[in-house]
Amino acid sequence: MERQEVFFTHNICKELNKRLLSAVYDKLFILTDENTARLCYDKLAECRVLEGAKKIVTGASDVHKNVKALCHVWDELSQGGGTRKSLLLNLGGGMVTDLGGFAASTFKRGIRFINIPTTLLAMVDASVGGKTGINYSGLKNEIGVFCNALSVYVDTTFLTTLDNQNIRSGYAEMLKHGLISTPSHWARLICFDISHPDMTELQELVQMSVEVKQQVVLADPTEKGMRKALNFGHTLGHAFESLALEQNRPVLHGYAVAWGMIGELYLSRIRKHFPATTMLQTIQFIKEHYGIFTYDCKMYDRLYELITHDKKNADGKIRCTLLGDIGQLALDEVLKKEDIFETLDYIREC
Ligand code: GLY
Repeated sequence: MERQEVFFTHNICKELNKRLLSAVYDKLFILTDENTARLCYDKLAECRVLEGAKKIVTGASDVHKNVKALCHVWDELSQGGGTRKSLLLNLGGGMVTDLGGFAASTFKRGIRFINIPTTLLAMVDASVGGKTGINYSGLKNEIGVFCNALSVYVDTTFLTTLDNQNIRSGYAEMLKHGLISTPSHWARLICFDISHPDMTELQELVQMSVEVKQQVVLADPTEKGMRKALNFGHTLGHAFESLALEQNRPVLHGYAVAWGMIGELYLSRIRKHFPATTMLQTIQFIKEHYGIFTYDCKMYDRLYELITHDKKNADGKIRCTLLGDIGQLALDEVLKKEDIFETLDYIREC
């Protein structure tokens, strides 16, 4: 896989007009969800290159990242006269870029697509790196392919309509990027005021985050090794996210990852001697900005069971990414039930 083209801009229309005018395609489609269609689509009103493009709208949120929505996108592409030379623009959060990317990668054995992420989470994570797919049979991202978008356009002015909780959610993935990269990157993130984000600084931090992700993906596009670094915080995080959903108290993905990072920093400390001060500073930041996830010991078995379904596991063992220090990766660390239970105790106590 080649390095993905990512353009950072404050004027999405100017950028699209400039770049798409010279692109060769026969038909242009734009996929959005109901929220994005309402809040973000107007920003594209002045894009001359989009005149005549066919709009495809799906339901919003992760529950619509399913086979039904996928068939809807395929139908629209097919009935709209899509061919192998057509181009699909995915305008939205991670649900839209995942779904649209998968629909495009499979329609007529693959057409090109462009991602225009409108949430912080999608800007720093979902839209970049070629993971596409849908949820299936109750399992997240169960069906999908690796396929890079032709290009990604990151315009942080979309974030002005994003609520602060969703800013925090995306920011958790940025914090993860800091932890797996360099102390100076991490230090900048820890000092940033996410309650009152300065948009100019946030844009810089977003660029730094995307760069970390690009480097990792370039080294290991299909997650055979180093890309597992991007899963830091996600072994426990996904379990928290699933448990919360089962208990009808859904939490945003980034919040679950932030709480998962508390546990995985603790495991990194006891297994790999991750520095205590860095761990405590990060945990303090998370507690301050994400609060805590409440659970009791009656839920430990269910959390453990959820963790056993994690995609990263291999040979019947729970595998997790830990850190020896900022940027020092320990991939495929095996976790036993007692490690998980001890960590769940730690998270509750801290
Ligand atoms: N979201 C993790 C990855 O792209 O690998």
